[in-house]
Amino acid sequence: MQLDRNIGMDLVRCTEAAALRAARLMGRGDKDAADQAAVDAMRFALNAMVMDGVVVIGEGEKDNAPMLYTGERVGTGAPPAVDIAVDPVEGTTLLAEGMPGAIAVIAVAERGALHAWSGIPYMYKLAVGEAARGKVDINASVAENIHAVAQALRRRVSDITVVVLDRPRHHQLIREIREAGARIRLIAHGDVAAGVMTAVEDAPADMLMGIGGAPEAVVTACALKCLGGEIQARMWPRDDHERALIAQQGMDAQHVYSTDELVKGENVYFVATGITSGDFLRGVQYSDVGARTHSVVMRATTGTIRHIESFHRWDKLMRVSGIDYLPNE
Ligand code: FBP
Repeated sequence: MQLDRNIGMDLVRCTEAAALRAARLMGRGDKDAADQAAVDAMRFALNAMVMDGVVVIGEGEKDNAPMLYTGERVGTGAPPAVDIAVDPVEGTTLLAEGMPGAIAVIAVAERGALHAWSGIPYMYKLAVGEAARGKVDINASVAENIHAVAQALRRRVSDITVVVLDRPRHHQLIREIREAGARIRLIAHGDVAAGVMTAVEDAPADMLMGIGGAPEAVVTACALKCLGGEIQARMWPRDDHERALIAQQGMDAQHVYSTDELVKGENVYFVATGITSGDFLRGVQYSDVGARTHSVVMRATTGTIRHIESFHRWDKLMRVSGIDYLPNE
């Protein structure tokens, strides 16, 4: 079934619910509790949606977190039939440590459109915004790609900013970016928001490069499809076991997944709500009677990008949702 009804507003209620509940646990140092709170709220809201949803990218493959697992059915079961990628807290450490940039994310596409996760936790990724789409090649050198982006953006190489996850595995990559002469923005966590931010208006960064979560590559692809950007990704097996897993499944470790392979077609939504404030979205802000959330809803078919600021009253929200959003005090 085609996704001709706009389900963006329904989806944003799901990320809002996750953010509202998880933000309560900001800085408490408990990643699992924060994740579980977000999962419970998101799952509850997803199940109220009129759709026949299958979670294709679920929570838990990398962290063994419970619920919203891959293969779980969500929604009322009525059409449209959709694939869903969830990341109830993208940046669990950011949230648990009270650091900027944790978001709640859902991406949706028609049934069969989302790339099913291979079981290999990491991918090497290269993401750019619309102006550089089609101009980069993950198999080319770091310097070549930076020069290609600089040319596409009509800027000096020294004015190009590359976002990289701050990890020891990226020492060589960082060296090569520096040698090429570009700027670097290191992030602690959260390469979905970082990838998305290469493609937004007044983009704070121009490229995302490096190794991050494989499920996050699919989610980022959904956002970039909505924004006109591009992601290329290649599996990054860490050891012989993962190399054997790739071979057993008849996959090619060198294969470069394009945006269109990670998410097919144009009927794609990307929805996110800020949990802790970052460059991309403001976090949940509390008042005496409720809380304010900031979300973005993107739809590839129409190219619409909506920023939504909502105010939620605890008393009403809890009455209609049945979810307890207040802390146990
Ligand atoms: P979680 O929300 O699951 O903790 O993921 C955060 C994240 O930083 C992702 O954005 C990124 O793709 C991945 O972890 C990187 O993995 P690692 O922290 O193992 O390097």
